[in-house]
Order: sequence, then structure tokens, then C-alpha cells
Amino acid sequence: MSVDIDWEALRAKARELTTRAYAPYSHFPVGAAGLVDDGRVVVGCNVENAAYGVALCAECGLISDLIAGGGGRLVAFSCANANGDLLMPCGRCRQLLWEHGGAALQVDTPAGVMTMDQVLPLAFGVAELEDVTGQEVKAEDD
Ligand code: THU
Repeated sequence: MSVDIDWEALRAKARELTTRAYAPYSHFPVGAAGLVDDGRVVVGCNVENAAYGVALCAECGLISDLIAGGGGRLVAFSCANANGDLLMPCGRCRQLLWEHGGAALQVDTPAGVMTMDQVLPLAFGVAELEDVTGQEVKAEDD
């Protein structure tokens, strides 16, 4: 399935989501938006907690939105901080994005649009599990 990427619309959505963030501890709101291969746009914002370590990054919400809304593959991703600037996903969130977008996912970065395998080289994924177990994982990984 091929879908056109409207980067400006995705960036605007990510910026809008920063206004929904719950970040009373870090005071660092984050918004994220992703385009799915069926044309849906999925979103997330960070949700912090008094137990700091269980804070949810914006990407966690986005992946939950993706799966709860019917699944599919992420095609493009953009993330913003409260200044409206592009923000790179943290390491853990790159792993989350890898699972649902794979190597070809287009990631908006301050250095331009990059593929997921450029922002998470030599990634660990389903293929590494299958290599050893010999069992096919019913994931949407490529
Ligand atoms: N944060 C995200 O939401 N996504 C990232 O990829 C980087 C960090 C959030 C987590 C925390 O609520 C705040 O930014 C400060 O680290």
C-alpha cells in the first residue's frame, strides 16, 4: 500500500499534541504523530507519573493508538518539543518504532528525513529471534 506523506500536516499534529502532554515533572511536553500505511494518522503525547520512572514517552501513546486503532505499518513519523522543534525519539522509542515501521520507516530529524535503519542501525528485531528459535513470529515486522 502506498500513501503520500504530508510532512507539514504530520509536524503540525505533533506540535498540537505537545499541548495535551502531561509533563508536570520534567516540564518537557512532547508530541508525536505517525502516518500509517492505510492513511490513518496516529498520535501520542508524553504522560508522566509521580513515580518518575514509569513515565510514558509520546511514542508509547502513539504505538498504543496505532494498535488500538486497528494496527498497520508506520510509514512516517514526526516528533516535536514545546518549542515546536523536531525531536529525536529516545533509544527505547526507536526500538518501539522499529517494531511497527521497520527499516524503511521515514523519520523526521533535525538533519532531514532519514530511514529508521539510519536512526537505529544494526537493530534488534523479530528476525534475530527467528534466526535462533526457527519459529516464525506473527509480528508485522518486515
Ligand atoms: N520523552 C518523550 O516523550 N519521547 C522521547 O523520545 C524523549 C523523551 C519525554 C519523556 C519525559 O516525559 C520527557 O520527555 C523528558 O524526558
